[in-house]
Amino acid sequence: MKRVTKAIFPAAGMGTRFLPATKANPKEMLPIVDKPLIQYAAEEAAAAGITDLIFIIGRTKRAIADHFDKAYELEVELETRGKLKALEDLRGMLPVNVNCIYIRQAEALGLGHAVLCAQPAVNDEPFAVLLADDLIDGEPGATKQMCDLYSYYQCSMVGVQHVDPSETGSYGIVATSPLAERISRVNQIVEKPKPADAPSDLAVVGRYVLTPRIFHHLRHIERGAGGELQLTDGIAELLKEQQVLAYEFTGKRYDCGSKLGYLEATVEYALKHPEVAAEFKDYLEKRFCASCQSGKGT
Ligand code: G1P
Repeated sequence: MKRVTKAIFPAAGMGTRFLPATKANPKEMLPIVDKPLIQYAAEEAAAAGITDLIFIIGRTKRAIADHFDKAYELEVELETRGKLKALEDLRGMLPVNVNCIYIRQAEALGLGHAVLCAQPAVNDEPFAVLLADDLIDGEPGATKQMCDLYSYYQCSMVGVQHVDPSETGSYGIVATSPLAERISRVNQIVEKPKPADAPSDLAVVGRYVLTPRIFHHLRHIERGAGGELQLTDGIAELLKEQQVLAYEFTGKRYDCGSKLGYLEATVEYALKHPEVAAEFKDYLEKRFCASCQSGKGT
């Protein structure tokens, strides 16, 4: 029985929907309140028992590696100023048994290519993939839910949720047959179909657990949707020889690759943040109460 101990974090995309914020910084470094998206994803993986975090980084590479490195000068400064809570948080960012590995994706050829770049660090083991711009607020986290299921089913699986049928063109879409509660067998998977061509409204969101056989297929696929090497196309090939499951995880997912989803996540996480929740709630109440009274929605 194999357990999942490795996770890949593709972070080499262009982040064009957030320009100019993402001109010199990866979109995965955008903060939700006070933590970058990539850290939420890394914490979710660590909470699932994953010990090797493999970051696939691109053009704007430095910020992510810097973020997870020890920051000696900053630590000394915090200590000198007596900011011990901040120091403790900084030091405890990830459990001590977690390794961070950085692999450079020289060209942004697509998600399938990004995952293939991690093969030397994954070898012949099952692994998780987390797309940090899909922020999932769940307890336990979506990755833990999926890794636990992997321990039982020992096969690849994709995290899914129902989307509005008009939105299928933004996702990998699966056709499935039911297997157990929240779990179904994938019969077909297509990348970003138009609503008229979509086999269902069940969309893959950014969580995967895959068997290493996927690397073989990723090496042989051709450019697909958007001219990119798509992970979805690799999974479609894998499906021909191995079972792939679709799992409707529990938890709320925010599409932080879009401005609206990002703003929703910011509001919800701020309303739960111990430091600002009370005052922020107060602000929102006053703000919306004032606009109701004036009737102008200002
Ligand atoms: C990627 C995948 C897509 C998946 C989506 C989830 O697309 O290619 O299959 O549904 O992530 O967020 P992207 O959002 O990078 O275009």
